[in-house]
Order: sequence, then C-alpha cells, then structure tokens
Amino acid sequence: MTPRLRLLLGGFVLLFVALQFVPVDRSNPPVTREVRWASPETRALAQRACFDCHSNETVWPWYAYVAPVSWRVAGHVEDGRRHLNFSAWDQPNEDADEVEEVLREGEMPLWDYVLLHPEARLTGAETEALIEGLRATFAADPPVPRRRSASPEPGS
Ligand code: HEC
Repeated sequence: MTPRLRLLLGGFVLLFVALQFVPVDRSNPPVTREVRWASPETRALAQRACFDCHSNETVWPWYAYVAPVSWRVAGHVEDGRRHLNFSAWDQPNEDADEVEEVLREGEMPLWDYVLLHPEARLTGAETEALIEGLRATFAADPPVPRRRSASPEPGS
C-alpha cells in the first residue's frame, strides 16, 4: 500500500467513525391510542408490512445503528409516523385516505425496506385483504381530521 493510499483509507475510516457520533432519534414514543382494528388479520398484515414506519412499535434493525444508513432509516420512520401512525389514533392522521392508492400502486411498503424485510412483501391477495381491512377499520374508527391551522398555507 502506498503512503498516499494509506492516508486516504485512514481518512475514510476516521470519517466513518466520526459519522457514528451524529445523534439519531431511534425512540419509540408511547402508544397514545392504537386504532381499533376491524379484525386481528388486518392488524397482523399491517404489523408485518407497515408498523416499522407507521407505528410507535418500530423494531429497529442493526443497520439502524450504523451511520449513514441509520439516517435514512430514522428519516423514514419519522416521515412515516407523521403521515400515518396507527399508534396515535387520537392525533390527526392526515393520509389515512391514501392507503388504498399507495397499496395499489405498490408504493408501500417502501421497496428498499422490502429488500431487507422479505416478510413484509405482501402477495396480491394479501394487499387486497389489507385494503379491505383498513377500509373497514377506518370506517368504524375514523381518523381525526386534519388540524386546521390558524393561518392556512398558500394554496391550501
Ligand atoms: C420503511 C418505512 C415504511 C414502511 C414499511 C411503510 N411506509 Fe408508508 N410511508 C413511509 C414514508 C417515509 C412516507 C412519507 C414519504 C412519502 O410520501 O413517500 C410514507 C407515507 C405513507 C402514506 C401517505 C401517502 C404518501 O404517499 O405520502 C401512506 C398512506 C402510507 N405510507 C401507507 C403505508 C402502508 C399501508 C404501509 C404498509 C403496507 C406502509 N406505508 C409501509 C414509510 C414507510
């Protein structure tokens, strides 16, 4: 190894080590109120495919502890919970009405998540069952409507 290469490699190792010190929020806040599931089967499907990003019962994988991957994982969980959180049904869940669309279009669960969590891959029949189950769930236990802000954003 040339001295120059050794220096470069050492630099990368130092950088990698330094990245690990950036704080990452991997907390699971308390479940304030879980949605009342229409059936245990619906909950089981959602738990398998959605809970890691759309609940406060995230199972944090080992790679969620290794930067920079951990930033992406934590970012997904934070964003996911903000859009839809089955553990916080007492708070606005703005995007519950988009569940059918994202499932039909195969947007959810996120593709890179499914690569690392093959058990989260739903068959066509399971996707349909989840759509039906969530529809019944939300009909019986509707999400809290969008919070009305005092000063609406332009265009909304
Ligand atoms: C790996 C994390 C992850 C998993 C697993 C996951 N989601 Fe998401 N979900 C997100 C993120 C991040 C967003 C917000 C960003 C976006 O809009 O793409 C989101 C947004 C949504 C939205 C809002 C619509 C939208 O496009 O903004 C819905 C509805 C949704 N997810 C449903 C689900 C359902 C149902 C499942 C299970 C089948 C699921 N998600 C699994 C991360 C995830």
